[in-house]
Amino acid sequence: MASELQQEVARRRTFAIISHPDAGKTTLTEKLLLYGGAIHLAGSVKAKRARRHATSDWMELEKERGISVTSSVLQFVYRDHAVNLLDTPGHQDFSEDTYRTLAAADAAVMLIDAAKGVEPQTKKLFKVCRMRGIPIFTFVNKLDRYGRAPLELMDELEQVLGIRSYPMNWPIGMGPEFRGVYDRRANVVHVFSAEGNHGEKEVAERSVPLDSEEIHSILSEQEMAQLREDIELLDVGGDEFTREKSDAGLLTPMFFGSAMTNFGVRPFLDAFLELAPPPTARLTKDGLREPSCPKFAGFVFKIQANMDPAHRDRIAFMRVVSGRYVKGMSAHHSRLGKEVRLAKPSQFLAAERTAIEDAWPGDVIGLFDPGQYRIGDSLAEDAGVVFDTVPRFSPEYFAVVRSKDPLRRKQMEKGLEQLSEEGTVQIFQQLQMGMKDPIVGVVGALQFEVLQYRLEHEYGAKIALDRLPFSHARWVVGPNFDPKAFDWEGNRQTVQDRDGLPLVLFRDDWALQHAEQKHPELKFLNEAPQL
Ligand code: G4P
Repeated sequence: MASELQQEVARRRTFAIISHPDAGKTTLTEKLLLYGGAIHLAGSVKAKRARRHATSDWMELEKERGISVTSSVLQFVYRDHAVNLLDTPGHQDFSEDTYRTLAAADAAVMLIDAAKGVEPQTKKLFKVCRMRGIPIFTFVNKLDRYGRAPLELMDELEQVLGIRSYPMNWPIGMGPEFRGVYDRRANVVHVFSAEGNHGEKEVAERSVPLDSEEIHSILSEQEMAQLREDIELLDVGGDEFTREKSDAGLLTPMFFGSAMTNFGVRPFLDAFLELAPPPTARLTKDGLREPSCPKFAGFVFKIQANMDPAHRDRIAFMRVVSGRYVKGMSAHHSRLGKEVRLAKPSQFLAAERTAIEDAWPGDVIGLFDPGQYRIGDSLAEDAGVVFDTVPRFSPEYFAVVRSKDPLRRKQMEKGLEQLSEEGTVQIFQQLQMGMKDPIVGVVGALQFEVLQYRLEHEYGAKIALDRLPFSHARWVVGPNFDPKAFDWEGNRQTVQDRDGLPLVLFRDDWALQHAEQKHPELKFLNEAPQL
């Protein structure tokens, strides 16, 4: 058993792609699946053309329900590796979702548009990876177009992100003069060929040793000279590659290619699977839980309701941390303090949800959720395991929710409850007499639109949102705190979270600081105190 567990752990890789919208994440994902044999013609995952300019890419995505299922997590097998690819929404208003997803990943691929370099969303997501200390692999995309000089991009990674890079391959030319990439370890040139199929099939790969005669029929003298000069510069002036630095996220292995034409995708995938770590341990309140621990344990990092309109069900996504998950097994649910059956597990292979028999560390499985899971919940064969991995964020935008149709208030409340369990919104109750309408708090303003849209389309509840002028929420603990007396003329309002804990909404930094100075006996917490 132990050795089967070790083998399964060793062959697994779980990662997420982070990028700014339009860098080519969908395209790269398709191509990775193509190589993994999960889809035969790249393009079948694509459903997002329209979402780029829509107010919410999520809404468009919602219209394509099947796609949102597939884009949450995909598993494919490539060269005996079981690969779990976690999707992260590109829009910054969904960054909370992304933070949580990254908690379930062991490595990240940072995708960069060669012409645009490091963009704002790349920067934000990179910071989260940094906080987690996970290895980051860089794929510079769109070399078939003119872009920035590769050395300039390396410099930008260092200046803007503070990470040094180690190019595993090096581009020769770009745009119409793009000849291919030089593989530094193998000392060969992978010759670029778009083959006119727009990358729908795997490309026939041609690799020519740099020291061969043949190379002269591919590269001009000038191109050869430039390449040699570049390589020397990298060899002499660049960093040395070590697994330690890469594993710690201090040095990013860098690759160049063109996802659209498939070019560079296979060499990237091969190197990535070799260099990315197998599933790593996760922190619990009692120390690290290693994947090799024979007892099953995992945590919920995402909940999504109504993924499939035909079923109207709710799925909790659980990352397996240790041991083997076997279909039908029960586990201790640490928050509820009881044993639960982990029902109807499924995995996600391209466009289909498939029932599974077992799962291993690194895998993500979707559990049927009758309403018993929350984001961050720990599930384990042994009692008392509490993971400390999923960050929670304090909302920054607030609004009072009113039902436009009093007869559908119940549906509205049910929808709000479910969406708050998904982590889309946080719900607060007003404490003032007669103020029955709930307040919702979100981390990104776009989530209001999602809320409105989903309540109407999934629960049949039309709502109006009255925005409030608050920008901070703080849970308050301390002696003699009187929630009812704490309100202050639009500068702050006291509310209650779903566990009945009091918190105060503040108008701005000034209002918050003012309260902190006036009440040194109270603590104003960014996160809900543990119950
Ligand atoms: P995203 O998920 O990161 O938002 O990006 P997506 O893959 O949708 O790609 C954004 C645009 O960039 C698409 O073009 C896509 O075809 C293009 N693209 C992706 N990889 C490459 C590449 O290697 N080279 C070039 N030249 N373009 C690339 P679009 O015109 O917006 O849409 P489409 O009609 O091509 O789908």
